[in-house]
Amino acid sequence: MKLVLLGPPGAGKGTQAAGIIERYHIPHISTGDIFRKNLKEGTALGLRAKGYMDQGALVPDALVVDIVVDRLTEPDAENGYLLDGFPRTLNQAIALDEYLAKQGDHLDHVINVKVDPEVLVERAVGRRICKNCGATYHVDFNPPKVEGVCDKCGGSLYQREDDNEATVANRIQVYMDETSPLIDYYAKKEILVEIDGQKEISEVFQDIISVLGE
Ligand code: AP5
Ligand code: MG
Ligand code: ZN
Repeated sequence: MKLVLLGPPGAGKGTQAAGIIERYHIPHISTGDIFRKNLKEGTALGLRAKGYMDQGALVPDALVVDIVVDRLTEPDAENGYLLDGFPRTLNQAIALDEYLAKQGDHLDHVINVKVDPEVLVERAVGRRICKNCGATYHVDFNPPKVEGVCDKCGGSLYQREDDNEATVANRIQVYMDETSPLIDYYAKKEILVEIDGQKEISEVFQDIISVLGE
């Protein structure tokens, strides 16, 4: 199954991805996670991406597309994958389609997680992530049992550098300008699935599962 998770910053893409990949046994490919990993390791790619990410701007298409195409050729992606945060521009979407078409392949579903802009800032600013396993929490909406500690692995929780109010506002604007046109793009291809991302985390998951099948 080849899936794309579309939705604004803080919509719950990463949160839902965790359940989806477990259920369908496909790898989670998040371009944001790839950049953050590179940054942590101090690679040239990570350092180039940092300037854009800190401002809430998009990393240039040319850089992003090559990384994703490389990742899609790895053996674990052979039978499908879940793309999270890619594509994010029309150019990226077209590049992905061209890549898939070359292999006689196509996306199965594009899941658009819809959340009102007012809710997004609160979600992103309250987000906490496990340093060790990457699990995502929210100080109010999905708190860990012990403050600052991951339920799953005991790792300590941190806040992303781009999860401050000003950068989140910019990320939302960039989403509106650059990414939201993809909703129409995929609707026309009749592979778009609209999901209400404002329900409880578990309800959103059930809605996604009911579309993807058991
Ligand atoms: P990326 O890491 O992809 O960030 P994003 O798209 O801004 O999305 P987020 O990760 O912020 O949100 P999410 O939807 O995953 O929400 P989550 O599940 O964590 O990208 C970061 C940067 O990298 C970009 O700004 C850009 O610079 C660069 N980049 C990445 N991809 C790129 C690309 N393709 N092209 C160019 N540049 C690229 O949830 C958020 C919070 O809400 C959590 O605390 C969670 O617990 C809580 N929550 C989740 N669901 C619910 C719910 N139903 N109810 C209540 N709370 C909830
Ligand atoms: Mg995410
Ligand atoms: Zn953890």
